[in-house]
Amino acid sequence: MKNFGLDIWSNKNFIIENGEVKLNYKSMPSLLNITESIRANNIKGPILLRFPHLIKKQIRSLYSYFDKAIKINNYKGSFNAVFPLKVNQFPHTVEAVTSQGKKYNYGLEAGSKAELILAMSKTPIGANITVNGFKDREMITLGFIAAQSGHNTTLTIEGLGELETIIEVAHECNLKIPNIGIRIRLHSTGSGIWAKSGGMDAKFGLTSTEIIEAIKLLRSADLLQYLSMIHFHIGSQMSDIAPLKKALREAGNIYAELRMMGAYELNNINIGGGLAVEYDQHSHSKSRNYSLEEFSSSVVFLLGEIMDAKDVKHPNIFTESGRFIVASHAVLITPVLELFTQDYQEKLLNFKDINPPLIKELIELNKLLSNQNCIEYLHDALDHMESLLTLFDLGYIDLQDRSNAEILVHNIIKKALYLKSSNPTDELEQLQIKLQERYLINASIFQSLPDYWGLKQHFPVMPLHHLNSTPLRAASLWDITCDSDGEIGFNPEKPLYLHDINLDEEDYFLGFFNVGAYQETLGMDHNLFTHPNEYTIKINDEAYEIINEVESKSILNILESIGYKREDILGKLKHNLIISDFITEKEKNDTLAKLETFVEQNGYLRTTN
Ligand SMILES: Cc1ncc(COP(=O)(O)O)c(C=O)c1O
Repeated sequence: MKNFGLDIWSNKNFIIENGEVKLNYKSMPSLLNITESIRANNIKGPILLRFPHLIKKQIRSLYSYFDKAIKINNYKGSFNAVFPLKVNQFPHTVEAVTSQGKKYNYGLEAGSKAELILAMSKTPIGANITVNGFKDREMITLGFIAAQSGHNTTLTIEGLGELETIIEVAHECNLKIPNIGIRIRLHSTGSGIWAKSGGMDAKFGLTSTEIIEAIKLLRSADLLQYLSMIHFHIGSQMSDIAPLKKALREAGNIYAELRMMGAYELNNINIGGGLAVEYDQHSHSKSRNYSLEEFSSSVVFLLGEIMDAKDVKHPNIFTESGRFIVASHAVLITPVLELFTQDYQEKLLNFKDINPPLIKELIELNKLLSNQNCIEYLHDALDHMESLLTLFDLGYIDLQDRSNAEILVHNIIKKALYLKSSNPTDELEQLQIKLQERYLINASIFQSLPDYWGLKQHFPVMPLHHLNSTPLRAASLWDITCDSDGEIGFNPEKPLYLHDINLDEEDYFLGFFNVGAYQETLGMDHNLFTHPNEYTIKINDEAYEIINEVESKSILNILESIGYKREDILGKLKHNLIISDFITEKEKNDTLAKLETFVEQNGYLRTTN
């Protein structure tokens, strides 16, 4: 896995050149170079980099593939898209989405009151706002205010109760009435770990009986002309295209039936999100079995076919793809703080004047190991280790001898792995797994990769540099939280190999890719580790600019955000120090100054010692 599956997951966004990962765009900066220039300003924790050009690329592909499919199929409806805010509400992501989407009239989707307020303030007038999720009277009224303010707003009802409230609000106030959408409950379910958004037992949507009831309610309130959309969403990260096709047939027929029942302003089918992202970095397991081309042409072709068969007007197509639009734009970069088996470094050997004979033999094996003899010498070393452990248990060798033996054998195995790296034996592969290196990363999995913690969703990971040499250490990653779940263990089915780095001599950085969807808002402040420092990277033809720095919350800020009072915390810290004994006034003042600096920084580690 020398290229870490870059050809599988990166969609040509990144390339490897001169041993480093580079952006495959314009001046092609290396991620290491960007990271080092940020760290030059005394930034030590994890960093999140945003690349708005990758959002632009995704929006452009979405629109162009659908436009192409519309042309090829002679489809009469239009293509429209909105970005679901739940996927990433962070200001610099939303800013990139709305600015890059302007020329397409790209809108926003909201699933809560807060998201609706955000959508109302960020959607360009004329672009669509769709409102999903459960709604109370207040949220429905907000939808009316959005329409009144000039937004092309569709309130999608999740149940008949919501429709009754819409009718009441429409009759009670003079505000412009928004478009009304109906979320339909399909038989079809999606595929993948988020599939339960669809199906008859799904949390959302109206059954056929309820849809008929909704039409009656709208007709009798004289509001049927506001019914403009039917909507479904069969689950995020759809791994298989077949369930979508089934859902389209179902939804297409419901649309046609409703139009035939007199819903003449019903012009739109919203197919929700679900367009998957490739997260896998091993060729035997892929996240999805279709391309964007197949996805778009299937949607357009199927809807056209159903409408033509029923002689019904082709609907405009809406999508709410979120993951597909923003996953690739964010990369989390974490410094490696420690490699735990570096406790076995040769410099820690401490021989005696007279060493036990088996240790002397291990010294010779270690010295003389070569490509020709390495398997034989390795077997001898493993055998000696067994004997030395027995000798230790029986009290014939001491702890220093045992430590020397462990270091020597560890090094012999490592050398054998390197010597046979191009053609490892099964035995060596097993040893490699046993000898796993634990890489301590300066990050919190709970904060930055919550879907790994909660759902074991894999995210592509690779070092930013050293990519000219083969990584040989079977790696598991430990984060700095005090929680044993904060670990990405070595998985022999999908192995991760990293480099053997002497961190006393150089830094080693890992990049986690495709983390721009869902991870940031789902991330939790476990152990009070907060969202990392983030930067937007604008890449030009000649160079790149680092803009929009957002600093991670300081220790005092995070404590304040959960209800502590800054003055109380600071006051108590100062008081305890001032009344303490045995240090001079100057030492107290210096310590106080240090303490004040510490609490104004974020809680990520700055060094490991
Ligand atoms: C109604 C609705 N639309 C769109 C989306 C976005 O889905 P995705 O990120 O898979 O595109 C979701 C996510 O669950 C959703 O519930």
